[in-house]
Amino acid sequence: MSSRRKILTVFGTRPEAIKLFPLVHALAEDERFDSRVCISAQHREMLDQVLEIAGIVPDHDLDLMTPGQTLDALTARALVEIGKVLDEERPDWIVVQGDTTTVMAGAIAAYYRKIPVCHVEAGLRSGDIHHPWPEEVNRRVVGSFAALHCAPTPTARDALLRENVAAGSVYVTGNTVIDALRWVTQRVGEQPALAAGLSELEARFAGKRIIGMTSHRRENFGEGMENIATAVQRLAAREDVAIIFPVHLNPNVRAVMNARLAGLDNVALIEPLDYPHFARLLDISHLMLTDSGGVQEEAPALGKPVLVMRETTERPEGIAAGTAKLVGTDADAIVRETTRLLDDEAAYAAMARAHNPFGDGHSAARIADLLAEA
Ligand code: UD1
Ligand code: UDP
Repeated sequence: MSSRRKILTVFGTRPEAIKLFPLVHALAEDERFDSRVCISAQHREMLDQVLEIAGIVPDHDLDLMTPGQTLDALTARALVEIGKVLDEERPDWIVVQGDTTTVMAGAIAAYYRKIPVCHVEAGLRSGDIHHPWPEEVNRRVVGSFAALHCAPTPTARDALLRENVAAGSVYVTGNTVIDALRWVTQRVGEQPALAAGLSELEARFAGKRIIGMTSHRRENFGEGMENIATAVQRLAAREDVAIIFPVHLNPNVRAVMNARLAGLDNVALIEPLDYPHFARLLDISHLMLTDSGGVQEEAPALGKPVLVMRETTERPEGIAAGTAKLVGTDADAIVRETTRLLDDEAAYAAMARAHNPFGDGHSAARIADLLAEA
């Protein structure tokens, strides 16, 4: 028992849960580990949706979410509360994933106790500390002291090496999001009822091309969100398209989108989808319009063109492969690029190629091996 490595996996938001459940499953099934899970619950409903489908019952639930939480209050509480769990569990390693406040605070709490940090999805860099904000700096903070950096791609590895991170601590593992997507696709294949909840909308929009949409970035709050809503209004005026938009629970997103888009014939503003239903949305969509990080990785894997409503991206691989394109948050640019994909068959075909720069679906197993040997 005592020879098993004790790993505490810490996460708090929907995307972290999606990208870590394959690793939590792998660690739980592996004799080499004593695996514990701590959730900050920086998100509540959107996190619980993932825990339920993945069958994960956390050992520690810090229940930190408050409505409209500020970054400083959340950071302070996460640091203190995750620290208490570390004192109780005294793990050999802590695992964090990505770039949220939970990741940054969890990693610092571990560093204060000299507990080594394994950073999953390490080395993503946009080069601009304000895009994505505050995620770019969260990543740099963790990257400056993690003991094990699991870079999803060679590009991410090279970014870490340029920052003088020790080469022996950086491994290209692929991105666990591909493991997660495969897992959920297989589950839905076995049990189609898991993703049948969109059938009413599918019937309502039969004959139209579906644009799947998400938007939540903090740097887009205000003008950016208003511009995005304007673009959607203009696209929705077309008879041959429908927009299905599961709206993030952040009140800064909901207020704008509800005020501007509710009641439009060709727009369905819906609640956040659980992962099987979101995979279904990806599947039925002609293209994706998003400012999400994870969707930029999933859409290319499924051959869906993705227009990225950001000024920069820390995921250049999809752009290099031609399956993703940066369109920013200018309404004219969003409408122009979407219209081109809708009306120009050659432009659409050039982007709609299944391509997988982000992983092969075996990333969690690789990371588990690294944790066993490190
Ligand atoms: C957070 C992350 C962001 C990540 C995103 C994924 C930070 C600073 N931001 O952004 O990097 O891309 O999650 O979705 O770490 N809310 C709910 N229920 C939920 C989730 C959120 O009501 O299940 C509402 C609450 O009012 C909450 C607000 O959304 O206060 C904001 O949540 P927060 O986690 O602070 O930031 P996000 O904008 O979701
Ligand atoms: N997602 C989901 N339901 C939704 C919207 C997104 O399950 O209604 C999934 C999506 O498949 C991806 C992840 O959530 O894996 C992306 O999360 P989000 O866009 O909130 O955060 P980001 O990736 O930008 O950090």
